[in-house]
Amino acid sequence: MSVVGIIAAGGSGERLGAEMPKAFVVLAGRPLLDWSLSVLRDVADRVVVAVPPGSPQSSVLGPREIVDGGESRSASVRNAVLAAPEASVYVVHDAARPLITPDLVRRCLDALGPGVDGAIAAAPMTDTVKEAAPDGRVMHTLDRTSLWRIQTPQVFRAGILREALDRDPAALAAATDDASLVEEIGGTVHVVEAPLQNMKVTSESDLRVAEALLAGR
Ligand code: CTP
Ligand code: MG
Repeated sequence: MSVVGIIAAGGSGERLGAEMPKAFVVLAGRPLLDWSLSVLRDVADRVVVAVPPGSPQSSVLGPREIVDGGESRSASVRNAVLAAPEASVYVVHDAARPLITPDLVRRCLDALGPGVDGAIAAAPMTDTVKEAAPDGRVMHTLDRTSLWRIQTPQVFRAGILREALDRDPAALAAATDDASLVEEIGGTVHVVEAPLQNMKVTSESDLRVAEALLAGR
């Protein structure tokens, strides 16, 4: 079995508002990307990172580890997947989640099995969830016991992920994660409960929280 780690690092990080793409912003002494890269290098046979085309900060990556990102997140993932045709399993992860752990990746890999095409990190809902009309009026309260907030890593059998990503740019841009594309072609995907710390860095305040969590490790 050949496990290939895919890191989506091709975004510009508009909401963070730094002078460089988000993946290269320094967090607790290392570029954001480095935290995920070292975990995936540990658990995978090879890692391929999709970075913004022309980013000068990519020198920590080997020539077989780097591809140009695409117009959308899923287009970036597709570019990286196509660069690693040897994979039997892909571990897809966002550079924006630096608190990924080897244990979480291994639990996702272990969850693949007969009849399971994908296994994805997820957090149970802790807030009450309501549906509201555009004017703010609450329509109803949802049963949160079966609802999950979906994260990365997301682990897939290679064949079904390649097929799921074989879509036009608009369909790729509309997908908010890779698992939804796999679900659309009939794949079976399971959630794997992630540690509470597996947060996503979107804004400046997230950067501070992630820094505190990494320092406390
Ligand atoms: N990503 C990517 N290629 C894109 C867009 C996003 O690989 N064309 C990656 C980002 O680098 C990030 C992950 O997808 O690791 C999740 O995206 P997000 O948190 O939205 O990051 P950005 O798109 O960079 O941030 P923003 O939306 O604020 O610009
Ligand atoms: Mg984005």
